[in-house]
Amino acid sequence: MVTSEHAGRATARAGANFALVKYWGKADARLNVPAVGSISITLDALFTETEVVVDPGLASDELTLDGKRRDEDLAKISACVDLLRRKAGVDTRVRVASRNNFPTGAGLASSASGFAALVRAAEGALGLTLSARERSIIARQGSGSAARSIFGGFVEMHAGSLPDGSDSFAEPLLESSEWPLEVVIAVTAKGEKEVGSRSGMARSASSSPYYAAWVAGQPPDLAAARAAIRARDFEALADIAEHNCLKMHAAALAALPPLVYWNGATVECLHAVRRLRAGGVPVFFTIDAGPQLKAVCAPGARGQVERMLSTVPGVLEVLTSALGPGAELR
Ligand code: DP6
Repeated sequence: MVTSEHAGRATARAGANFALVKYWGKADARLNVPAVGSISITLDALFTETEVVVDPGLASDELTLDGKRRDEDLAKISACVDLLRRKAGVDTRVRVASRNNFPTGAGLASSASGFAALVRAAEGALGLTLSARERSIIARQGSGSAARSIFGGFVEMHAGSLPDGSDSFAEPLLESSEWPLEVVIAVTAKGEKEVGSRSGMARSASSSPYYAAWVAGQPPDLAAARAAIRARDFEALADIAEHNCLKMHAAALAALPPLVYWNGATVECLHAVRRLRAGGVPVFFTIDAGPQLKAVCAPGARGQVERMLSTVPGVLEVLTSALGPGAELR
């Protein structure tokens, strides 16, 4: 039954998130349960805003992204909304209008903010009231990283071990105000990436000789990052995050065919960040399944990092962000 005051229509906003200890590989593709836990930061300046309208007159769900129809993405969206429809005990179709304020599908975590905003808005539109954990479990089934964008600040995703995926959800570790790190993003290409995360992880798992080592190394990396975040130890977090990122890319590079997500400018940015850090600037890098480099800065270091990355040849644009809140209704 549809009961809440938001019933019928709701808009939600969710921030993108970047993992400092990465999710790469699945334990169960059907339930989208990750093979490894992960730890991320949620951003405030890069976000998705999504409106969901319940429309009994529709024969099927509709989706627009940045004002354009996206029928190719509709099956994933409908499957995610189905989980909420089932909870609400309704079968009515919905119209979903989503906007990203940053490039879509280029390794800037658009599926994370996208599914987190979708779940929050659809929950409101269908008149449901879920716990944050339930939201995270549903968002995970849309996209693994979206389970983390339900929460703000520093977030840990648990891989879980139950066959129904009910213990595979994210939880907040630290609020953004408790350690206000900032992020500088060097955009080095603007098109949608060639091989998305989903097929990239499947290829790594099935063909990379380093995949098993990647999975086995994750529990100690998670423990080290968790401890560094709790202690606000920037140097310790920087060491573990860069190491974990490069291990993920090592597993991907060794897949068949190889997954090379970087371009030349990505590598130049990586060296620039390493030089800054060697010179005493508190900054470290991370890179996801795309060519953008994300530089994570201790409070106060952002301006210097932004100026340096803007001068690297091949950098098209530099974006900056503070840490932000979890998915919320507008
Ligand atoms: C490299 O969450 O996009 O960004 O669950 O298949 O939708 P699916 O994958 P997705 O993968 C994100 C991979 C990553 C690392 C990370 O965010 O942890």
